[in-house]
Amino acid sequence: MKFNMSVVPMLLHKNLGLAFKMARGFFKMERTKLMKRHFENYDHMKNFCLIYMKLTPLCNLRCVMCGQRGDKGVLKGEFAANEAKSIVPVETYKKMIDELAEKKPVYYLWGGEPFLYPDLFELVRYIQSKGSFCSINTNGTLLEKYAEQIVKDKWNVIFVSLDAFKDVNDEMRGPGSYDRVIKGFEAINREKKKQGSNLPVMGVVTTVTNKNYKSLADLAVACKDLEIDLHMYNLGTYTNDEIFAKHKAYFKEKLGTDIYCLEGYNTGYNENIDGAELHKILDTIHSTNYGYLSITVPALNPEKTHEYYAKLDVPVRNHCIVPWCQANINYNGDVCFCADYSEYPLGNIKEQSFKEIYNGERANKFRHAISECEGGIFPGCLRCYQNMLFGKKIKGY
Ligand SMILES: C[S@@+](CC[C@H](N)C(=O)[O-])C[C@H]1O[C@@H](n2cnc3c(N)ncnc32)[C@H](O)[C@@H]1O
Ligand code: SF4
Repeated sequence: MKFNMSVVPMLLHKNLGLAFKMARGFFKMERTKLMKRHFENYDHMKNFCLIYMKLTPLCNLRCVMCGQRGDKGVLKGEFAANEAKSIVPVETYKKMIDELAEKKPVYYLWGGEPFLYPDLFELVRYIQSKGSFCSINTNGTLLEKYAEQIVKDKWNVIFVSLDAFKDVNDEMRGPGSYDRVIKGFEAINREKKKQGSNLPVMGVVTTVTNKNYKSLADLAVACKDLEIDLHMYNLGTYTNDEIFAKHKAYFKEKLGTDIYCLEGYNTGYNENIDGAELHKILDTIHSTNYGYLSITVPALNPEKTHEYYAKLDVPVRNHCIVPWCQANINYNGDVCFCADYSEYPLGNIKEQSFKEIYNGERANKFRHAISECEGGIFPGCLRCYQNMLFGKKIKGY
């Protein structure tokens, strides 16, 4: 199974400038892993390198395993519609981007569905005009509609979520979603040829669950026709009742905060996954040349695949670096460290500068709280996707 860094050579071959921007982000993250942890009286902006922007609470799908809108997700219906009234105007984002320009962080735009943010094109143009690397994670259902403009604007990278081949995908992501995504890829590829461009770099992201793990190889074969550059297998963010209760209690005690978002990942889609079988499937995928790069997050030793799904209390990555080099902007402008859990806002970009927030009292309180936890991660973060990407690999895993 390959590591995150293997993306860089793939980008080198595609676009030198993009490879350099990505490598710069990775380098800062690796450096943060080795660095002493700082708290007050330190400019945390020195190491800042990755910003997530959850642009909207709205989405046109309702995928079963989604922590926001799935079986146990909370960002649905009337609640999501009301929350959408508070989205950040693009002018406010631009001010923040100006403030961060000197750091040239990597941007990762997501949601909800980012194509439902009304000024997405203006935002991406602005980010890229500042020399930052910009990636967009979308469900792909609106790609066909916007393909011409996307290619014209030379978007850097798009990650499209596809969880399986045809029916299994639609069981997870809703009827008709597979075909819509395929039409989206076709439209992007047509436009790239028409406009003579090799951008955007296109990737597929697959979230592994007990519904799709047996059919991952079928999807890998189908992706050959999509002319993609990269396929990422995301082993998934999961929790259970016991871990959720522990996490909730810890946050209440240390940060005085009620946690509810994590509950969205308490779905049971991690259950009954045969680790040995999944490993065999991933092994086949990684040893086959489909004409694109395949990466699994987190990359695990074969005999540990079972534990990832069956023993949610066993850490496979720890020492979360997120509070020392990354942040997520929630759709309402709240700055949080964790992209998936927005209940502990550090401040809001509609009211304060990003730097003030990132170096502020609430941010440092969070940094202390996480540092005091065993292994440098909160109880509920043992299967957090962000930590699986950037946490420290525990020996043997
Ligand atoms: C929440 S979505 C937002 C962007 C967009 N709507 C999409 O589906 O790509 C971001 C990514 O999280 C993935 N995802 C959904 N449920 C997940 C889970 N339980 N664990 C990890 N990732 C998950 C989605 O498949 C998608 O690739
Ligand atoms: S498309 Fe994305 S945000 Fe929407 S429900 Fe699916 S995973 Fe969640």
